[in-house]
Amino acid sequence: MNKTITVSAPGKLMLFGEHAVVYNRPCIVTAVDQRMRATVELVETPEFQLEAADVKVTGYKKALSELGKGDIPKGAQFVEIAVKNILQRHPELGSGSAGLRITTTSEFSSQFGFGSSSASTVCTIKAISELLALNLSQKELFDIAFKTVLDIQGKGSGFDVAAAIYGGTIYFVTGGKVIEPLQIPTLPLLVGYSGVKADTVTLINKVKETSDAYPEIIDGIYTNIEKLVERAKPAIIAQEWKTVGELMNINQGYLDALGVSTKKLATMIYSAKDAGAYGAKLSGAGGGDCIISLATDAQRNAVETAITQAGAEIVSVTTNAEGVRIEK
Ligand code: MEV
Repeated sequence: MNKTITVSAPGKLMLFGEHAVVYNRPCIVTAVDQRMRATVELVETPEFQLEAADVKVTGYKKALSELGKGDIPKGAQFVEIAVKNILQRHPELGSGSAGLRITTTSEFSSQFGFGSSSASTVCTIKAISELLALNLSQKELFDIAFKTVLDIQGKGSGFDVAAAIYGGTIYFVTGGKVIEPLQIPTLPLLVGYSGVKADTVTLINKVKETSDAYPEIIDGIYTNIEKLVERAKPAIIAQEWKTVGELMNINQGYLDALGVSTKKLATMIYSAKDAGAYGAKLSGAGGGDCIISLATDAQRNAVETAITQAGAEIVSVTTNAEGVRIEK
């Protein structure tokens, strides 16, 4: 049995369907090639040890029997609860004298909204599965990782967990009811970071408040988002970028109606469109994080300049990246 293993998983960008996907609707997500890594080692004390300098966690340790108890630093939550959940499923692992030392590193800032928490959860569970020869299937990995996210956040669709595991570009329905890889080459996306960190749960709660006040209207918006996701799926596969861009613009209109866009995001989006992009929208929960825009090679430079002039940072990514994999 190997004593150390390193696993990596990609970040993600939501293309269509955010928020509606929390409420039993589909979305489309692509994995990006900026990766999270976790190295898991067996140690000879029954402890959980964590080094996650990117999120300001160093020298953190705890008895395996104490996992999930007491104050957990924010940066340690997902990895600790992931270990707790896997030990709950396989209690034999926590009953001996061995423990685990986990080191995580990220190629992307946790500020971007690329799903660093989900990716580190997936890496941790996959690495333990390999290290201890549990042979978890992708669906079992999804179920434990999604449970971990829900244990901590209380809310979410699991699309980010699916992107970290399966990679590529995926059509996904809430909770993994459908996880369908779309066979496409890379997408002509440009990504701009607003400089503002968004909190997903706060935004989900904000949308819920609006939905409680105007249930039939908001439900209608979710249904229309579902329709545009269904329309976007074949358009993406056929690489009909003009149509995909137009659908992005419609999706952005609905996200604005849900109250999750901001003046900064809108400025970035209008700048991209004015510079010739086919379409642009926020990506993810809203409130900040990133916008995505769709531009041909000929439009790319002008759109990049426009997004930068709107005060954003261009984040260079390759989409459609490989899912979780063993590095060594
Ligand atoms: C956040 O990136 C996207 C949301 O739809 C939440 C989720 O699907 O888990 C708002």
